[in-house]
Amino acid sequence: MTNKMWGGRFKQDQDLLFWKFQSSIHYDKVLASYDIKGSIAHAKMLGKTGIIPVRAAQLITSNLAKMLKDLENNSFKIDLSAEDIHSAIYIALKKKIGDAADYLHTARSRNDQVVLDLRMYAKDKISVLTGLIKKLQSALVNVSKKNIDVIIPGLTHTRHAVPILLSHQLLAYVEMFERDSKRLFQARERCDEMPLGACAMAGTSFVIDREYVAKLLGFKKVSQNSIDAVSDRDFVIDILSAIAILFMHLSRFCEEMILFSTPEFNIIEIGEAYCTGSSIMPQKKNPDALELIRGTSARAYANLNSIMIMMKGLPLSYNRDMQLDKEEFFDSVDMTEKVLTIMSGLVKSIMINKNNMLKVFEDDESLFALDIADYLVRKGLAFARAHTITGKIITYCADNRLKISALPIDKLKRFTSKFDESFYKELDAKRSVVKKSSTGSTNPIFVRQQINKWVKRLKD
Ligand code: ARG
Repeated sequence: MTNKMWGGRFKQDQDLLFWKFQSSIHYDKVLASYDIKGSIAHAKMLGKTGIIPVRAAQLITSNLAKMLKDLENNSFKIDLSAEDIHSAIYIALKKKIGDAADYLHTARSRNDQVVLDLRMYAKDKISVLTGLIKKLQSALVNVSKKNIDVIIPGLTHTRHAVPILLSHQLLAYVEMFERDSKRLFQARERCDEMPLGACAMAGTSFVIDREYVAKLLGFKKVSQNSIDAVSDRDFVIDILSAIAILFMHLSRFCEEMILFSTPEFNIIEIGEAYCTGSSIMPQKKNPDALELIRGTSARAYANLNSIMIMMKGLPLSYNRDMQLDKEEFFDSVDMTEKVLTIMSGLVKSIMINKNNMLKVFEDDESLFALDIADYLVRKGLAFARAHTITGKIITYCADNRLKISALPIDKLKRFTSKFDESFYKELDAKRSVVKKSSTGSTNPIFVRQQINKWVKRLKD
């Protein structure tokens, strides 16, 4: 028996090297279960509408159902000499039930079949990925909750800016990952269109029941333009771009955790389970997990880029180029699954160097510059004026190697008479964060509210 779904028109066999080059079975085999489920629904519909004999439909569906079971318990061997997974399943069925299998491909083409499989795969995988994002968010919320009292230097331009709660910073990532989740959910909505019935591109002359197939396979609606149905890979690009943005967030988080765990910042420590050592420098404990995830984001971007470029010049409708969407698509999905799982574990392993965080604010009182300026505003100065005076005090202290807290009040009064003894308590990180009062700010009351909100939201 031939291992092709076509061949009648050919006098010659394909060149061996070309045959291997064009075969997609080595990667599209991950679609096997979807392909079988799609075929079961299609055969049921063909039987129900009387397009094929009911007995043939029953034989096909019962044997495909058995095949699906075998696949699930690893006893179905996929024939890797087949051209693609659609051919492999069809040929396996034909081996089992003989000529009755020939009815299955009525009113169907691999062009609509492959999009169906891909859409089913995408819908399932998005549910897995959003579940994993939720776990990562929960891990971040947990660290935030446990360390609600930790104040760190907030950064702009990677330089000390103002005191903030570490939890506030971590919750910023929870917001980012929430947007990633939403993007994936929205992409899932756009996947939820059943393309079968488009056939090669123009539809079919048989009176098929597409809504029935959609219902059997759990699709919300059926596609409305058969040409678009087989030409469209927007849903793949949608997901790849949501993944690319997710990786941008992951990569920024990695970069920050690498910085925060350096002896220079000394804010956190990464659990040893996520570090490796050096073969020459015995002292090293390197944040390799974070570096590799940051590095892997390049591949997430490349995969998106690759499909965008592959698609951009194609005339409608199906072109074989489109087979090449799969490796990149599957790669990005697999990579995201792995990375999110590792990242959740890594976040759980993070330890906070609380004592060092108290010292930072002693060593660098310039972190209170904005608090000083705001103090002077409250004492009656215009902000720009307060800004200039504070700047002069900072420079004076830097030039003379003095701490601001060490300046006596008469010295301070030389900068402006607005200073009085109440000033010194401004040089306090805790006071600084508590004084923040705008919604969404680093005030512990707001941050605690946010933590409670996330705990609740992530539970269901
Ligand atoms: N393996 C092909 C793909 O992934 C299936 C569709 C092939 N259709 C065709 N007419 N050659 O796109």
